Amino acid sequence: HEIRNPLAGIKINTQILLRKKDLPEMERRLLVSSQEGIEKIQKIVDDMLHFAKPRPSCFEEEDINHVVEQSLAVLQVKLKKANIASVFEKGEGLPQLRIDGHQIQQVLINLMLNAIQAMEKGGTLTIRTFLENGNGVGVEVKDTGIGIPVAHIKKIFDPFFTTKSEGTGLGLSISLKILQNHGATIDVASEEGKGSAFTIHFPAI
Ligand SMILES: Nc1ncnc2c1ncn2[C@@H]1O[C@H](COP(=O)(O)OP(=O)(O)O)[C@@H](O)[C@H]1O
Ligand SMILES: [Mg+2]
Repeated sequence: HEIRNPLAGIKINTQILLRKKDLPEMERRLLVSSQEGIEKIQKIVDDMLHFAKPRPSCFEEEDINHVVEQSLAVLQVKLKKANIASVFEKGEGLPQLRIDGHQIQQVLINLMLNAIQAMEKGGTLTIRTFLENGNGVGVEVKDTGIGIPVAHIKKIFDPFFTTKSEGTGLGLSISLKILQNHGATIDVASEEGKGSAFTIHFPAI
């Protein structure tokens, strides 16, 4: 809160100033750009606080296909803008999972955002859910993007590892933490220039 409150205060100040009529164009632009900067910092601070102190999971029986659909819905506009087709290969008759739906949605959105960012020229995002190992469930998030160099594969789950100019490097580390808390695992297969596939393995209830 020592960081969050003053930040929120600054954001409100810029909003108030922006409401002024007949603001010179130059000043308007400076305010808008300050506001964008503040929003970026807010996102990073949120991510870092989350990483340091994750919210306790609230486990409930959930239908994983439903969580995938919700996550895809959140990203519809981004997918369209990025010229990315999305395919959901929905596993039938999957057992309910004991998960925190919000946290797993956060994980799926992180993986899908990475996939979108890896497909700057468009491509296909494929999500597949399937039964495995008796009554466990697998969820694969696959893209046709730039892929991950072999030398990076070991580091991508490390906090703050990023290859993006505006990345925080926290998405995968937070996701891994959440999944471990669910007794789930995640693995990655990738080929440079072809794409990547992240697969989550949920244990049976
Ligand atoms: N689908 C993907 N395709 C290519 N590279 C990826 C993909 N997902 C993750 N990465 C690599 O892993 C790094 C870490 O990802 P992440 O923890 O989400 O942080 P960020 O997205 O902020 O960089 C990325 O910077 C990128 O190099
Ligand atoms: Mg990311």
